[in-house]
Amino acid sequence: MTDRVLVFDTTLRDGEQSPGVRLSLDEKLEIGKQLTSLGVDIIEAGFPISSPGDFASVNLLAKELRNVTICGLTRAREKDIEVAAEALAPAERRRIHTGLGVSDNHLMFKFKMSREEALATGVKAVKFARQFTDDVEYFMEDSGRADLDYVYKVVEEVIRAGATTINVPDTTGYTYPNEYFHLIKGIIENVPNSDQAVFSCHCHNDLGMATANTLAGVMGGARQVEVTVNGIGERAGNTALEEVVMALHIRQDKFGVDTRIDTTQLLPTSRMVSRLSGMVVQRNKAVVGANAYAHSSGIHQDGVLKERSTYEIIDPLLVGAEKSEIILTARSGRHGLKHRLAEIGFAFSEDRFEEIYSDFLKLADTKKEVDEDDLRLLVG
Ligand code: KIV
Ligand code: ZN
Repeated sequence: MTDRVLVFDTTLRDGEQSPGVRLSLDEKLEIGKQLTSLGVDIIEAGFPISSPGDFASVNLLAKELRNVTICGLTRAREKDIEVAAEALAPAERRRIHTGLGVSDNHLMFKFKMSREEALATGVKAVKFARQFTDDVEYFMEDSGRADLDYVYKVVEEVIRAGATTINVPDTTGYTYPNEYFHLIKGIIENVPNSDQAVFSCHCHNDLGMATANTLAGVMGGARQVEVTVNGIGERAGNTALEEVVMALHIRQDKFGVDTRIDTTQLLPTSRMVSRLSGMVVQRNKAVVGANAYAHSSGIHQDGVLKERSTYEIIDPLLVGAEKSEIILTARSGRHGLKHRLAEIGFAFSEDRFEEIYSDFLKLADTKKEVDEDDLRLLVG
């Protein structure tokens, strides 16, 4: 049985909080259009009360984009919610994302509130937000470090107040997959009205576990994932959209869930966000890195040239890449060299090829990569 997982993209909100990133209104619209073509279900377009620019971008995307829910972030304050509702008013489908911290750390140091006061504030915010839309998401900031019984109580009360999606953020990237799995599963099993809401994973990458935690959350029963393109975001970033989508796709056997994402748009989207945000994608980045479908060692090249699946679990065409690449280096073998020579139109007798191979190895020892121009020189 397959089940749908909703993809909530927060590239334009949490992603744009990356130090050094500032997107113009036009750039946000360009990304918003691409996210819609990619097939995300919800776009968190900004935090409307935070600045006139954020208000304008949420409002513009609400006016321009169709077939996607536009979401605005708010604190659990009436003024924030009113402003978000105004920005979202033209949207075909609108969501207000409100909430408050739940860990004692955040309550004590940030809010200087008791648990009871925070709960009452959250419930009031949800009820207020429901006046503007029946799609209200509640975030429990720093859930990863919070007391479980308190989390269960908050979830029950905010669902009763009208929240339809419950976001369980591991704000500080503190949890590890087994813990996050039990956090989500525990909420679903222990909160009496949990069947009335969708649970959402929102994981940060401080310990490099954002994708693993998000997938563990899906295993635990979450049916929404909050992600950014290329994993951009505060500090070490958010969960990478492309990683989660491809993991769910490639490991259907494990997860039994589906998304609405057109995977062939993953690479174009990654490149667009990288270009507009100025955040370079590391070459060995999973799914969309420049080396993700490139092979340089002789053993791997030989395997891939005989049968792609020997060393590739993702067909590059599936993510919108052109093809697998054979990169010639000092570790490459005869099969790889022959293949690259054939690609540029050369075939040689075995004796002549052996001479070229020997020259190739000498040259490769002096360079990081032997490129097409080098090959042409080598063969004379
Ligand atoms: O990481 C977080 O807790 C957040 C919330 C504001 C949703 O980004
Ligand atoms: Zn976040």
